[in-house]
Amino acid sequence: MKLDKRITNLIITGFSGTGKSLVAEEVARGLNWDFLDTDDEIVKETGKPIAEIFRQDGEGKFRELERETIRKACQQRQTVIAIGGGAIVDPQNYELLAKTGLIVCLEAKPETIYERLFREAACSPETEVRPLLANDNPLERIKQLKASRQPYYANVDWTVHTDNLNISQVAEEVIRAWRLLRLAHPPHLNPLPSRERKLGSQLKANDDVACVVETTTQSYPVFVGYDLLDKLGEKMKQAALSGTATVISDENVFSLYGSKVEEILKDAGFAVNSFVVPPGEETKNMDYATKIYDFLVEHRAERDDIIIALGGGMVGDLAGFVAATFLRGMPWIQVPTSLVAMVDASIGGKVGVNHPEGKNLIGAFYQPNLVLADCQTLTTLPQRELTSGWAEVIKHSMILDEEFVQFLESNVDRLTKLEPELLTRAIARSAAIKAQVVSQDEKEREGKRTILNYGHTIAHGLEAATQYKRFLHGEAVAIGMVGAAKLSQRLGLLPSAAVERQQALLQKFGLPTVFSGLDLTEITKAMELDKKTKEKAIRWVLLQDIGKVIIRSDVPYQDVLAVLRELAEP
Ligand SMILES: NC(=O)c1ccc[n+]([C@@H]2O[C@H](COP(=O)([O-])OP(=O)(O)OC[C@H]3O[C@@H](n4cnc5c(N)ncnc54)[C@H](O)[C@@H]3O)[C@@H](O)[C@H]2O)c1
Repeated sequence: MKLDKRITNLIITGFSGTGKSLVAEEVARGLNWDFLDTDDEIVKETGKPIAEIFRQDGEGKFRELERETIRKACQQRQTVIAIGGGAIVDPQNYELLAKTGLIVCLEAKPETIYERLFREAACSPETEVRPLLANDNPLERIKQLKASRQPYYANVDWTVHTDNLNISQVAEEVIRAWRLLRLAHPPHLNPLPSRERKLGSQLKANDDVACVVETTTQSYPVFVGYDLLDKLGEKMKQAALSGTATVISDENVFSLYGSKVEEILKDAGFAVNSFVVPPGEETKNMDYATKIYDFLVEHRAERDDIIIALGGGMVGDLAGFVAATFLRGMPWIQVPTSLVAMVDASIGGKVGVNHPEGKNLIGAFYQPNLVLADCQTLTTLPQRELTSGWAEVIKHSMILDEEFVQFLESNVDRLTKLEPELLTRAIARSAAIKAQVVSQDEKEREGKRTILNYGHTIAHGLEAATQYKRFLHGEAVAIGMVGAAKLSQRLGLLPSAAVERQQALLQKFGLPTVFSGLDLTEITKAMELDKKTKEKAIRWVLLQDIGKVIIRSDVPYQDVLAVLRELAEP
Protein backbone atom coordinates (compact mmCIF):
# COMPACT_ATOMS: atom_id res chain seq x y z
CA MET A 1 0.00 0.00 0.00
CA LYS A 2 1.29 3.44 -0.85
CA LEU A 3 2.03 5.48 2.22
CA ASP A 4 1.66 8.95 0.81
CA LYS A 5 -1.87 8.67 -0.43
CA ARG A 6 -4.65 11.08 0.44
CA ILE A 7 -7.92 9.29 1.02
CA THR A 8 -10.76 11.20 -0.47
CA ASN A 9 -12.73 8.35 -2.06
CA LEU A 10 -13.39 4.68 -1.58
CA ILE A 11 -13.05 2.51 -4.67
CA ILE A 12 -14.69 -0.89 -5.00
CA THR A 13 -13.35 -3.30 -7.56
CA GLY A 14 -13.55 -7.05 -8.13
CA PHE A 15 -14.54 -9.58 -10.74
CA SER A 16 -18.06 -9.68 -12.25
CA GLY A 17 -20.58 -11.18 -9.88
CA THR A 18 -18.87 -10.04 -6.68
CA GLY A 19 -21.57 -7.42 -6.03
CA LYS A 20 -19.48 -4.28 -6.58
CA SER A 21 -22.30 -1.89 -7.48
CA LEU A 22 -24.76 -3.01 -4.82
CA VAL A 23 -22.06 -3.06 -2.14
CA ALA A 24 -20.71 0.35 -3.17
CA GLU A 25 -24.21 1.80 -3.02
CA GLU A 26 -24.78 0.40 0.45
CA VAL A 27 -21.37 1.55 1.69
CA ALA A 28 -22.13 5.05 0.39
CA ARG A 29 -25.39 5.03 2.33
CA GLY A 30 -23.59 3.82 5.45
CA LEU A 31 -20.92 6.51 5.24
CA ASN A 32 -23.35 9.18 4.09
CA TRP A 33 -21.20 9.65 0.97
CA ASP A 34 -22.01 9.92 -2.73
CA PHE A 35 -22.10 6.86 -4.97
CA LEU A 36 -20.88 6.49 -8.52
CA ASP A 37 -20.66 3.43 -10.81
CA THR A 38 -18.31 3.97 -13.74
CA ASP A 39 -20.13 1.41 -15.93
CA ASP A 40 -23.43 3.24 -15.32
CA GLU A 41 -21.73 6.54 -16.20
CA ILE A 42 -20.50 5.07 -19.50
CA VAL A 43 -23.97 3.78 -20.32
CA LYS A 44 -25.42 7.21 -19.56
CA GLU A 45 -22.76 8.98 -21.62
CA THR A 46 -23.05 6.77 -24.72
CA GLY A 47 -26.68 5.74 -24.44
CA LYS A 48 -25.65 2.12 -25.10
CA PRO A 49 -25.40 -0.93 -22.83
CA ILE A 50 -21.82 -2.07 -22.12
CA ALA A 51 -22.24 -5.31 -24.10
CA GLU A 52 -23.29 -3.31 -27.13
CA ILE A 53 -20.25 -1.03 -26.89
CA PHE A 54 -18.06 -4.14 -26.80
CA ARG A 55 -19.85 -5.62 -29.79
CA GLN A 56 -20.12 -2.53 -31.94
CA ASP A 57 -17.03 -0.50 -31.03
CA GLY A 58 -14.68 -3.12 -29.58
CA GLU A 59 -13.00 -3.45 -26.18
CA GLY A 60 -10.42 -0.77 -27.05
CA LYS A 61 -13.13 1.89 -27.35
CA PHE A 62 -14.75 0.73 -24.11
CA ARG A 63 -11.42 0.98 -22.20
CA GLU A 64 -10.91 4.47 -23.57
CA LEU A 65 -14.34 5.55 -22.31
CA GLU A 66 -13.66 3.85 -18.99
CA ARG A 67 -10.34 5.68 -18.55
CA GLU A 68 -12.00 9.04 -19.12
CA THR A 69 -14.86 8.19 -16.74
CA ILE A 70 -12.40 7.14 -14.02
CA ARG A 71 -10.41 10.33 -14.50
CA LYS A 72 -13.56 12.36 -13.86
CA ALA A 73 -14.63 10.15 -10.95
CA CYS A 74 -11.29 10.68 -9.22
CA GLN A 75 -11.99 14.41 -9.05
CA GLN A 76 -14.87 13.69 -6.67
CA ARG A 77 -14.56 13.75 -2.88
CA GLN A 78 -16.27 11.50 -0.38
CA THR A 79 -17.59 9.25 -3.10
CA VAL A 80 -17.81 5.47 -3.16
CA ILE A 81 -16.86 4.52 -6.70
CA ALA A 82 -17.65 1.10 -8.18
CA ILE A 83 -15.36 0.40 -11.13
CA GLY A 84 -15.53 -2.29 -13.79
CA GLY A 85 -13.69 -5.53 -13.03
CA GLY A 86 -11.05 -4.95 -15.73
CA ALA A 87 -10.38 -1.25 -15.07
CA ILE A 88 -7.63 -1.79 -12.55
CA VAL A 89 -5.50 -3.72 -15.06
CA ASP A 90 -4.77 -0.44 -16.82
CA PRO A 91 -1.70 1.11 -15.06
CA GLN A 92 -2.93 4.65 -15.70
CA ASN A 93 -6.26 3.90 -14.01
CA TYR A 94 -4.56 2.14 -11.11
CA GLU A 95 -2.15 4.99 -10.44
CA LEU A 96 -4.93 7.56 -10.40
CA LEU A 97 -7.26 5.48 -8.25
CA ALA A 98 -4.53 4.54 -5.77
CA LYS A 99 -3.56 8.18 -5.36
CA THR A 100 -7.02 9.42 -4.47
CA GLY A 101 -8.69 6.62 -2.62
CA LEU A 102 -8.60 3.35 -0.78
CA ILE A 103 -9.16 0.47 -3.13
CA VAL A 104 -11.13 -2.48 -1.82
CA CYS A 105 -11.40 -5.65 -3.91
CA LEU A 106 -14.39 -7.97 -3.54
CA GLU A 107 -13.27 -11.56 -3.98
CA ALA A 108 -15.21 -14.75 -4.74
CA LYS A 109 -14.33 -18.21 -6.00
CA PRO A 110 -14.95 -18.82 -9.74
CA GLU A 111 -17.66 -21.34 -8.81
CA THR A 112 -19.47 -18.74 -6.70
CA ILE A 113 -19.18 -16.18 -9.46
CA TYR A 114 -20.51 -18.64 -12.04
CA GLU A 115 -23.43 -19.54 -9.84
CA ARG A 116 -24.28 -15.88 -9.10
CA LEU A 117 -24.10 -14.81 -12.76
CA PHE A 118 -26.16 -17.82 -13.80
CA ARG A 119 -28.80 -17.07 -11.18
CA GLU A 120 -28.87 -13.40 -12.18
CA ALA A 121 -29.40 -14.37 -15.85
CA ALA A 122 -32.19 -16.77 -14.89
CA CYS A 123 -33.92 -14.17 -12.72
CA SER A 124 -33.87 -11.41 -15.33
CA PRO A 125 -34.05 -13.07 -18.75
CA GLU A 126 -34.94 -9.76 -20.37
CA THR A 127 -31.46 -8.29 -19.71
CA GLU A 128 -28.70 -9.14 -22.11
CA VAL A 129 -26.67 -12.28 -21.22
CA ARG A 130 -23.29 -11.28 -19.80
CA PRO A 131 -20.50 -11.91 -22.34
CA LEU A 132 -18.84 -14.18 -19.77
CA LEU A 133 -21.73 -16.63 -19.94
CA ALA A 134 -22.08 -16.47 -23.71
CA ASN A 135 -19.63 -19.26 -24.52
CA ASP A 136 -19.39 -23.04 -24.32
CA ASN A 137 -17.65 -23.35 -21.00
CA PRO A 138 -18.43 -20.26 -18.92
CA LEU A 139 -16.86 -21.57 -15.69
CA GLU A 140 -13.57 -22.22 -17.46
CA ARG A 141 -13.69 -18.74 -19.04
CA ILE A 142 -14.31 -17.16 -15.62
CA LYS A 143 -11.36 -19.11 -14.17
CA GLN A 144 -9.01 -18.01 -16.93
CA LEU A 145 -10.00 -14.36 -16.97
CA LYS A 146 -9.98 -14.13 -13.18
CA ALA A 147 -6.52 -15.73 -13.00
CA SER A 148 -5.19 -13.20 -15.49
CA ARG A 149 -6.50 -10.30 -13.37
CA GLN A 150 -5.48 -11.73 -10.01
CA PRO A 151 -2.07 -9.98 -9.83
CA TYR A 152 -3.87 -6.64 -10.21
CA TYR A 153 -6.53 -7.50 -7.64
CA ALA A 154 -3.72 -8.42 -5.26
CA ASN A 155 -2.42 -4.88 -5.54
CA VAL A 156 -5.30 -3.25 -3.67
CA ASP A 157 -5.48 -1.93 -0.09
CA TRP A 158 -7.98 -4.44 1.27
CA THR A 159 -9.78 -7.59 0.12
CA VAL A 160 -13.15 -8.84 1.27
CA HIS A 161 -14.04 -12.50 0.60
CA THR A 162 -17.67 -12.48 -0.33
CA ASP A 163 -18.50 -16.19 -0.92
CA ASN A 164 -20.44 -16.62 2.31
CA LEU A 165 -21.67 -13.06 2.84
CA ASN A 166 -24.73 -11.17 1.66
CA ILE A 167 -24.51 -7.63 0.27
CA SER A 168 -25.08 -5.93 3.65
CA GLN A 169 -22.44 -8.06 5.32
CA VAL A 170 -19.92 -7.26 2.59
CA ALA A 171 -20.76 -3.55 2.90
CA GLU A 172 -20.19 -3.78 6.66
CA GLU A 173 -16.80 -5.39 6.05
CA VAL A 174 -15.85 -2.63 3.62
CA ILE A 175 -16.83 0.06 6.15
CA ARG A 176 -14.83 -1.75 8.81
CA ALA A 177 -11.80 -1.80 6.49
CA TRP A 178 -12.29 1.87 5.75
CA ARG A 179 -12.37 2.73 9.45
CA LEU A 180 -9.16 0.82 10.06
CA LEU A 181 -7.28 2.07 7.03
CA ARG A 182 -8.21 5.72 7.27
CA LEU A 183 -6.22 5.82 10.49
CA ALA A 184 -3.14 5.01 8.46
CA HIS A 185 -4.03 7.75 5.97
CA PRO A 186 -6.05 10.43 7.75
CA PRO A 187 -7.63 12.83 5.27
CA HIS A 188 -5.51 15.95 4.89
CA LEU A 189 -3.93 15.72 8.28
CA ASN A 190 -0.58 17.17 9.08
CA PRO A 191 1.67 15.37 11.51
CA LEU A 192 2.07 16.78 14.99
CA PRO A 193 3.56 20.22 14.64
CA SER A 194 7.29 19.98 14.93
CA ARG A 195 9.03 21.85 17.72
CA GLU A 196 10.87 23.92 15.14
CA ARG A 197 7.80 25.05 13.30
CA LYS A 198 6.93 28.71 13.65
CA LEU A 199 3.71 29.52 15.42
CA GLY A 200 2.82 31.90 12.62
CA SER A 201 2.69 29.15 10.02
CA GLN A 202 1.19 26.50 12.23
CA LEU A 203 -2.37 26.82 11.19
CA LYS A 204 -1.99 27.80 7.59
CA ALA A 205 -3.55 25.57 4.95
CA ASN A 206 -4.05 22.64 7.23
CA ASP A 207 -7.78 22.27 7.14
CA ASP A 208 -8.35 23.43 10.76
CA VAL A 209 -6.30 20.55 12.15
CA ALA A 210 -4.32 21.70 15.18
CA CYS A 211 -2.83 18.28 15.84
CA VAL A 212 -3.44 14.57 15.76
CA VAL A 213 -3.57 12.51 18.93
CA GLU A 214 -2.00 9.16 18.19
CA THR A 215 -2.51 6.47 20.76
CA THR A 216 -2.53 2.70 20.53
CA THR A 217 -6.31 2.60 20.71
CA GLN A 218 -7.27 5.50 18.48
CA SER A 219 -5.77 8.22 16.32
CA TYR A 220 -7.88 11.31 15.97
CA PRO A 221 -7.69 14.88 14.79
CA VAL A 222 -8.17 17.92 16.99
CA PHE A 223 -9.77 20.68 14.94
CA VAL A 224 -9.41 24.20 16.26
CA GLY A 225 -10.87 27.24 14.55
CA TYR A 226 -13.17 30.20 14.76
CA ASP A 227 -16.76 29.57 13.65
CA LEU A 228 -15.96 25.90 13.32
CA LEU A 229 -19.23 24.52 14.73
CA ASP A 230 -20.73 24.86 11.26
CA LYS A 231 -18.34 22.18 10.05
CA LEU A 232 -19.16 19.65 12.76
CA GLY A 233 -21.39 17.47 10.57
CA GLU A 234 -18.94 17.57 7.69
CA LYS A 235 -16.00 16.56 9.91
CA MET A 236 -18.03 13.72 11.39
CA LYS A 237 -18.87 12.42 7.95
CA GLN A 238 -15.20 12.64 6.99
CA ALA A 239 -14.48 10.50 10.03
CA ALA A 240 -16.90 7.92 8.60
CA LEU A 241 -19.44 8.41 11.40
CA SER A 242 -23.12 7.91 10.73
CA GLY A 243 -26.34 7.07 12.54
CA THR A 244 -27.95 8.83 15.47
CA ALA A 245 -26.04 11.45 17.40
CA THR A 246 -26.91 11.99 21.07
CA VAL A 247 -25.80 15.44 22.17
CA ILE A 248 -24.97 15.62 25.87
CA SER A 249 -24.65 19.11 27.24
CA ASP A 250 -25.29 21.23 30.30
CA GLU A 251 -28.09 23.78 30.63
CA ASN A 252 -25.79 26.80 30.18
CA VAL A 253 -24.10 25.57 27.06
CA PHE A 254 -27.15 23.92 25.54
CA SER A 255 -29.21 27.10 25.86
CA LEU A 256 -26.54 28.92 23.85
CA TYR A 257 -25.46 26.36 21.27
CA GLY A 258 -27.83 23.38 21.50
CA SER A 259 -30.24 24.20 18.72
CA LYS A 260 -27.45 25.35 16.43
CA VAL A 261 -25.59 22.07 16.89
CA GLU A 262 -28.78 20.05 16.41
CA GLU A 263 -29.48 21.89 13.13
CA ILE A 264 -25.94 21.39 11.87
CA LEU A 265 -26.10 17.67 12.59
CA LYS A 266 -29.52 17.25 10.99
CA ASP A 267 -28.37 19.14 7.90
CA ALA A 268 -25.49 16.68 7.62
CA GLY A 269 -27.92 13.76 7.66
CA PHE A 270 -27.66 12.65 11.29
CA ALA A 271 -30.65 11.83 13.45
CA VAL A 272 -30.29 13.81 16.69
CA ASN A 273 -31.35 13.39 20.31
CA SER A 274 -30.22 15.65 23.13
CA PHE A 275 -29.82 15.12 26.85
CA VAL A 276 -29.21 18.17 29.00
CA VAL A 277 -27.85 18.06 32.55
CA PRO A 278 -27.54 20.79 35.19
CA PRO A 279 -24.22 22.68 35.05
CA GLY A 280 -21.52 22.24 37.67
CA GLU A 281 -19.21 19.63 39.12
CA GLU A 282 -22.03 18.13 41.27
CA THR A 283 -23.52 16.68 38.08
CA LYS A 284 -20.42 14.62 37.27
CA ASN A 285 -21.53 11.48 39.09
CA MET A 286 -22.96 7.98 38.63
CA ASP A 287 -26.54 9.22 39.10
CA TYR A 288 -26.33 11.39 36.02
CA ALA A 289 -24.42 8.72 34.10
CA THR A 290 -27.32 6.36 34.87
CA LYS A 291 -29.86 8.95 33.74
CA ILE A 292 -28.03 9.17 30.43
CA TYR A 293 -27.89 5.35 30.13
CA ASP A 294 -31.68 5.30 30.67
CA PHE A 295 -32.13 7.89 27.94
CA LEU A 296 -29.96 5.90 25.52
CA VAL A 297 -31.86 2.69 26.28
CA GLU A 298 -35.16 4.46 25.80
CA HIS A 299 -34.01 5.81 22.43
CA ARG A 300 -32.62 2.40 21.42
CA ALA A 301 -29.09 3.74 20.86
CA GLU A 302 -26.88 1.31 18.99
CA ARG A 303 -23.20 0.60 19.13
CA ASP A 304 -22.38 2.60 16.01
CA ASP A 305 -24.38 5.64 17.08
CA ILE A 306 -22.49 8.65 18.34
CA ILE A 307 -22.24 10.53 21.61
CA ILE A 308 -21.40 14.22 21.33
CA ALA A 309 -20.07 16.01 24.39
CA LEU A 310 -20.99 19.67 23.96
CA GLY A 311 -19.67 21.72 26.85
CA GLY A 312 -16.85 22.23 29.30
CA GLY A 313 -14.68 19.60 30.93
CA MET A 314 -17.46 18.42 33.22
CA VAL A 315 -19.69 17.47 30.30
CA GLY A 316 -16.71 15.97 28.43
CA ASP A 317 -15.76 13.72 31.36
CA LEU A 318 -19.35 12.61 32.01
CA ALA A 319 -20.37 12.07 28.36
CA GLY A 320 -17.06 10.35 27.62
CA PHE A 321 -17.59 8.00 30.55
CA VAL A 322 -21.02 7.10 29.24
CA ALA A 323 -19.59 6.61 25.73
CA ALA A 324 -16.87 4.34 27.13
CA THR A 325 -19.28 2.13 29.03
CA PHE A 326 -22.62 2.05 27.22
CA LEU A 327 -22.81 -1.02 24.96
CA ARG A 328 -19.14 -1.56 25.82
CA GLY A 329 -18.15 1.60 23.99
CA MET A 330 -19.67 3.91 21.40
CA PRO A 331 -17.99 6.39 19.07
CA TRP A 332 -17.87 9.85 20.60
CA ILE A 333 -16.96 13.40 19.74
CA GLN A 334 -15.68 16.16 21.97
CA VAL A 335 -16.99 19.63 21.23
CA PRO A 336 -15.31 21.60 24.05
CA THR A 337 -16.72 25.04 24.79
CA SER A 338 -14.59 26.17 27.74
CA LEU A 339 -10.91 27.09 27.49
CA VAL A 340 -9.97 24.35 29.97
CA ALA A 341 -11.81 21.79 27.89
CA MET A 342 -10.32 22.99 24.59
CA VAL A 343 -6.69 22.84 25.63
CA ASP A 344 -6.82 20.13 28.27
CA ALA A 345 -9.90 18.06 29.18
CA SER A 346 -10.97 17.17 25.63
CA ILE A 347 -7.60 15.73 24.67
CA GLY A 348 -6.22 12.47 25.92
CA GLY A 349 -9.25 10.30 26.56
CA LYS A 350 -9.44 10.52 30.35
CA VAL A 351 -13.12 10.18 31.13
CA GLY A 352 -14.89 9.66 34.42
CA VAL A 353 -17.19 10.69 37.19
CA ASN A 354 -16.70 11.68 40.82
CA HIS A 355 -17.34 9.40 43.81
CA PRO A 356 -18.59 10.87 47.09
CA GLU A 357 -15.15 10.03 48.50
CA GLY A 358 -13.11 11.69 45.79
CA LYS A 359 -12.97 13.43 42.44
CA ASN A 360 -12.59 11.36 39.28
CA LEU A 361 -12.35 8.09 41.22
CA ILE A 362 -14.41 6.19 38.63
CA GLY A 363 -13.26 6.35 35.06
CA ALA A 364 -11.50 5.01 32.02
CA PHE A 365 -9.18 5.92 29.19
CA TYR A 366 -11.42 6.12 26.15
CA GLN A 367 -10.35 8.25 23.23
CA PRO A 368 -12.85 10.26 21.18
CA ASN A 369 -13.08 9.94 17.39
CA LEU A 370 -12.43 13.61 16.95
CA VAL A 371 -12.26 16.87 18.86
CA LEU A 372 -13.70 20.06 17.42
CA ALA A 373 -13.05 23.30 19.26
CA ASP A 374 -14.81 26.42 18.03
CA CYS A 375 -12.99 29.30 19.72
CA GLN A 376 -15.93 31.58 19.09
CA THR A 377 -17.85 29.79 21.83
CA LEU A 378 -15.41 31.33 24.31
CA THR A 379 -17.09 34.71 23.78
CA THR A 380 -19.93 33.54 26.05
CA LEU A 381 -17.77 31.82 28.68
CA PRO A 382 -17.90 33.66 32.03
CA GLN A 383 -14.78 35.79 32.52
CA ARG A 384 -13.57 33.95 35.61
CA GLU A 385 -13.76 30.58 33.78
CA LEU A 386 -11.88 32.06 30.85
CA THR A 387 -9.12 33.47 33.02
CA SER A 388 -8.82 30.13 34.82
CA GLY A 389 -8.37 28.41 31.45
CA TRP A 390 -5.38 30.55 30.58
CA ALA A 391 -3.51 28.90 33.46
CA GLU A 392 -3.49 25.59 31.54
CA VAL A 393 -2.35 27.34 28.37
CA ILE A 394 0.50 29.02 30.24
CA LYS A 395 1.34 25.71 31.92
CA HIS A 396 1.73 24.01 28.54
CA SER A 397 4.03 26.76 27.33
CA MET A 398 6.13 26.69 30.52
CA ILE A 399 6.77 22.96 30.46
CA LEU A 400 7.65 22.47 26.82
CA ASP A 401 7.71 25.53 24.62
CA GLU A 402 9.67 28.70 25.34
CA GLU A 403 8.73 30.09 21.92
CA PHE A 404 5.07 29.77 22.90
CA VAL A 405 5.81 31.62 26.17
CA GLN A 406 7.17 34.51 24.08
CA PHE A 407 4.06 34.43 21.90
CA LEU A 408 1.80 34.63 24.94
CA GLU A 409 3.89 37.43 26.48
CA SER A 410 3.70 39.50 23.30
CA ASN A 411 -0.01 39.08 22.77
CA VAL A 412 -1.66 39.24 26.20
CA ASP A 413 -4.04 42.06 25.31
CA ARG A 414 -5.18 40.64 22.03
CA LEU A 415 -5.56 37.16 23.48
CA THR A 416 -7.55 38.25 26.48
CA LYS A 417 -9.79 40.23 24.13
CA LEU A 418 -10.34 36.96 22.23
CA GLU A 419 -9.06 38.25 18.92
CA PRO A 420 -10.03 35.36 16.62
CA GLU A 421 -6.83 34.68 14.71
CA LEU A 422 -4.45 34.87 17.66
CA LEU A 423 -6.85 33.06 19.96
CA THR A 424 -7.12 30.21 17.48
CA ARG A 425 -3.34 30.00 17.20
CA ALA A 426 -2.84 29.95 20.95
CA ILE A 427 -5.47 27.27 21.52
CA ALA A 428 -4.20 25.17 18.63
CA ARG A 429 -0.66 25.33 19.98
CA SER A 430 -1.69 24.52 23.53
CA ALA A 431 -3.86 21.61 22.38
CA ALA A 432 -0.98 20.33 20.26
CA ILE A 433 1.33 20.29 23.29
CA LYS A 434 -1.19 18.28 25.32
CA ALA A 435 -1.70 15.95 22.33
CA GLN A 436 2.01 15.41 21.97
CA VAL A 437 2.39 14.42 25.60
CA VAL A 438 -0.60 12.09 25.79
CA SER A 439 0.37 10.47 22.50
CA GLN A 440 3.57 9.35 24.18
CA ASP A 441 1.91 8.02 27.31
CA GLU A 442 -1.75 7.26 26.71
CA LYS A 443 -2.53 5.64 30.05
CA GLU A 444 -0.20 7.54 32.32
CA ARG A 445 1.96 4.46 32.79
CA GLU A 446 5.30 5.66 31.53
CA GLY A 447 5.58 8.80 33.57
CA LYS A 448 5.73 11.07 30.53
CA ARG A 449 2.23 12.38 31.18
CA THR A 450 3.35 13.41 34.66
CA ILE A 451 4.83 16.63 33.30
CA LEU A 452 1.28 17.86 32.70
CA ASN A 453 0.96 17.99 36.48
CA TYR A 454 3.24 21.03 36.65
CA GLY A 455 1.71 23.33 39.27
CA HIS A 456 -0.83 20.70 40.24
CA THR A 457 0.72 19.39 43.46
CA ILE A 458 0.26 22.61 45.36
CA ALA A 459 -2.96 23.28 43.41
CA HIS A 460 -4.55 20.09 44.72
CA GLY A 461 -3.41 20.97 48.23
CA LEU A 462 -5.11 24.35 47.93
CA GLU A 463 -8.28 22.90 46.40
CA ALA A 464 -8.61 20.09 48.95
CA ALA A 465 -7.87 22.44 51.87
CA THR A 466 -10.76 24.63 50.69
CA GLN A 467 -13.13 21.72 49.89
CA TYR A 468 -12.92 22.59 46.18
CA LYS A 469 -15.08 25.62 46.86
CA ARG A 470 -12.78 28.60 46.83
CA PHE A 471 -10.56 28.29 43.75
CA LEU A 472 -11.34 27.42 40.20
CA HIS A 473 -8.89 24.73 39.14
CA GLY A 474 -6.86 27.08 36.92
CA GLU A 475 -6.56 29.63 39.71
CA ALA A 476 -5.14 27.00 42.03
CA VAL A 477 -2.81 25.79 39.25
CA ALA A 478 -1.52 29.33 38.70
CA ILE A 479 -0.55 29.61 42.37
CA GLY A 480 0.84 26.07 42.20
CA MET A 481 3.01 27.01 39.22
CA VAL A 482 4.47 29.94 41.10
CA GLY A 483 5.18 27.54 43.99
CA ALA A 484 6.80 24.94 41.72
CA ALA A 485 8.99 27.60 40.10
CA LYS A 486 10.06 28.95 43.50
CA LEU A 487 10.86 25.39 44.60
CA SER A 488 12.90 24.91 41.44
CA GLN A 489 14.81 28.06 42.30
CA ARG A 490 15.44 26.87 45.88
CA LEU A 491 16.87 23.63 44.52
CA GLY A 492 19.22 25.62 42.29
CA LEU A 493 17.49 24.53 39.10
CA LEU A 494 15.96 27.80 37.93
CA PRO A 495 17.21 31.41 37.98
CA SER A 496 15.06 33.95 39.81
CA ALA A 497 14.52 35.86 36.55
CA ALA A 498 12.61 32.87 35.16
CA VAL A 499 10.47 32.68 38.31
CA GLU A 500 9.60 36.34 37.93
CA ARG A 501 8.96 35.98 34.21
CA GLN A 502 6.40 33.25 34.81
CA GLN A 503 4.76 35.19 37.64
CA ALA A 504 4.46 38.30 35.47
CA LEU A 505 2.81 36.33 32.66
CA LEU A 506 0.28 34.74 35.02
CA GLN A 507 -0.58 38.14 36.47
CA LYS A 508 -0.99 39.71 33.03
CA PHE A 509 -3.62 37.10 32.26
CA GLY A 510 -5.39 38.04 35.51
CA LEU A 511 -4.46 34.90 37.43
CA PRO A 512 -3.71 34.83 41.17
CA THR A 513 -0.14 34.08 42.26
CA VAL A 514 -0.63 34.05 46.06
CA PHE A 515 -3.29 32.92 48.51
CA SER A 516 -4.46 34.13 51.90
CA GLY A 517 -6.20 32.96 55.05
CA LEU A 518 -5.30 29.29 54.84
CA ASP A 519 -3.77 26.95 57.37
CA LEU A 520 -0.53 25.63 55.84
CA THR A 521 -0.77 22.27 57.57
CA GLU A 522 -4.14 21.67 55.90
CA ILE A 523 -2.47 22.21 52.57
CA THR A 524 0.53 19.98 53.23
CA LYS A 525 -1.73 17.24 54.58
CA ALA A 526 -3.77 17.30 51.38
CA MET A 527 -0.61 17.27 49.28
CA GLU A 528 0.73 14.16 50.95
CA LEU A 529 -2.52 12.40 50.12
CA ASP A 530 -2.33 13.65 46.58
CA LYS A 531 -2.59 10.91 43.96
CA LYS A 532 0.67 11.97 42.35
CA THR A 533 2.66 10.38 45.18
CA LYS A 534 4.75 7.33 44.34
CA GLU A 535 5.92 5.19 47.23
CA LYS A 536 4.98 8.07 49.51
CA ALA A 537 7.39 10.56 47.92
CA ILE A 538 5.76 13.37 46.01
CA ARG A 539 6.90 13.47 42.40
CA TRP A 540 7.43 17.16 41.88
CA VAL A 541 7.22 18.54 38.40
CA LEU A 542 9.74 21.38 38.37
CA LEU A 543 11.38 23.70 35.84
CA GLN A 544 15.02 23.66 34.74
CA ASP A 545 14.39 26.53 32.43
CA ILE A 546 11.38 28.15 30.78
CA GLY A 547 10.05 25.44 28.49
CA LYS A 548 12.03 22.65 30.15
CA VAL A 549 10.67 20.42 32.91
CA ILE A 550 12.30 18.00 35.30
CA ILE A 551 10.73 15.57 37.77
CA ARG A 552 12.20 15.29 41.26
CA SER A 553 11.13 13.02 44.11
CA ASP A 554 13.77 14.25 46.59
CA VAL A 555 12.39 17.65 47.50
CA PRO A 556 12.90 18.37 51.23
CA TYR A 557 9.72 19.00 53.19
CA GLN A 558 11.25 22.15 54.69
CA ASP A 559 11.67 23.68 51.24
CA VAL A 560 8.04 22.98 50.38
CA LEU A 561 6.94 24.59 53.64
CA ALA A 562 9.15 27.62 53.02
CA VAL A 563 7.65 28.07 49.55
CA LEU A 564 4.10 27.77 50.90
CA ARG A 565 4.94 30.49 53.41
CA GLU A 566 6.14 32.70 50.55
CA LEU A 567 2.89 32.08 48.68
CA ALA A 568 0.72 32.86 51.68
CA GLU A 569 -0.18 36.53 51.94
CA PRO A 570 -0.06 37.82 55.49
N1 LIG B 1 -10.37 14.55 31.31
C1 LIG B 1 -9.36 15.33 31.55
O1 LIG B 1 -8.24 15.07 31.11
C2 LIG B 1 -9.59 16.59 32.33
C3 LIG B 1 -8.60 17.58 32.40
C4 LIG B 1 -8.88 18.75 33.08
C5 LIG B 1 -10.11 18.93 33.69
N2 LIG B 1 -11.04 17.93 33.61
C6 LIG B 1 -12.37 18.10 34.24
O2 LIG B 1 -13.00 19.19 33.60
C7 LIG B 1 -13.87 19.84 34.53
C8 LIG B 1 -13.55 21.29 34.51
O3 LIG B 1 -13.78 21.79 33.21
P1 LIG B 1 -14.38 23.23 32.96
O4 LIG B 1 -13.50 24.20 33.62
O5 LIG B 1 -14.65 23.38 31.53
O6 LIG B 1 -15.72 23.20 33.82
P2 LIG B 1 -17.27 23.06 33.42
O7 LIG B 1 -17.49 22.06 32.38
O8 LIG B 1 -17.99 22.88 34.71
O9 LIG B 1 -17.57 24.49 32.80
C9 LIG B 1 -17.46 25.63 33.60
C10 LIG B 1 -18.73 26.49 33.48
O10 LIG B 1 -18.71 27.16 32.23
C11 LIG B 1 -19.95 26.93 31.56
N3 LIG B 1 -19.62 26.96 30.14
C12 LIG B 1 -18.82 26.13 29.45
N4 LIG B 1 -18.67 26.56 28.20
C13 LIG B 1 -19.39 27.69 28.08
C14 LIG B 1 -19.61 28.62 27.03
N5 LIG B 1 -18.99 28.50 25.87
N6 LIG B 1 -20.42 29.65 27.25
C15 LIG B 1 -21.01 29.82 28.47
N7 LIG B 1 -20.82 29.00 29.51
C16 LIG B 1 -20.02 27.95 29.31
C17 LIG B 1 -20.45 25.63 32.09
O11 LIG B 1 -21.83 25.52 31.94
C18 LIG B 1 -20.01 25.71 33.53
O12 LIG B 1 -20.96 26.44 34.26
C19 LIG B 1 -13.67 19.13 35.84
O13 LIG B 1 -14.67 18.19 36.03
C20 LIG B 1 -12.33 18.44 35.69
O14 LIG B 1 -12.20 17.31 36.50
C21 LIG B 1 -10.80 16.79 32.94
